[in-house]
Amino acid sequence: MVSTLKLAPSILSADFTRLGEQLATCQSAGADWVHIDVMDGRFVPNITMGPLIVEAARRATSLPLDVHLMIVEPERYIEMFAKAGAHHITVHVEASPHLHRTLQAIRALGVRAGIALNPHTPVSAIEEVLPLADLVTIMTVNPGFGGQTLIASALHKFTQLRRWSDDNAHPLDLVADGGVNLQTIAAVAQAGATVLVGGNAVFAHPSGIADGIAALRAALAGQPHA
Ligand code: DX5
Ligand code: ZN
Repeated sequence: MVSTLKLAPSILSADFTRLGEQLATCQSAGADWVHIDVMDGRFVPNITMGPLIVEAARRATSLPLDVHLMIVEPERYIEMFAKAGAHHITVHVEASPHLHRTLQAIRALGVRAGIALNPHTPVSAIEEVLPLADLVTIMTVNPGFGGQTLIASALHKFTQLRRWSDDNAHPLDLVADGGVNLQTIAAVAQAGATVLVGGNAVFAHPSGIADGIAALRAALAGQPHA
């Protein structure tokens, strides 16, 4: 599979008093997607943002909005997020007993459909529905918070999914979410991820967002699809 590595800043680590300005900086610094972490305090032990923030982000950037739903019963809210301007909606397999139907419903709204896997969930759990997916998000931390340490034992899942994608001639964006930073990004790309989410590595970079993005790009230099 020929692909280009994409960077997706996660606004979980943004300064929400300056969200519009920070999104404009992400875009001008060459970010590819904007990653938006929706948490409900039930599926994960944290509460973050909803459709209102997606709608505000939509007005602040023309980058694709990659909405990651870490919520129970995600099927109840997909239409709301689609209307708010999500380009991708990703649901967790662990929160979706009717995942086949949910992925179909996302696509029927004209939105790209994603599946997310917690660190303990094997790729085999989603094999039957991969033909209905446009992207798969591999959690490389336990979902809920930014700034955690990458769980390296999750990386083999990118290799498995890459192989499935090639064997079935079905393009998939393979998203690495959590703990991606200057020290880990090359190994994550090497494993087969095609989209690198960066929260702290972008928004908490000591010399600013643009430098954070540039540093991640520089750390990817030399990777086959960089
Ligand atoms: C974790 C979130 C991640 C998080 C990544 O639950 O899904 O998207 O923002 O943050 P960093 O890059 O700081 O690990
Ligand atoms: Zn996320």
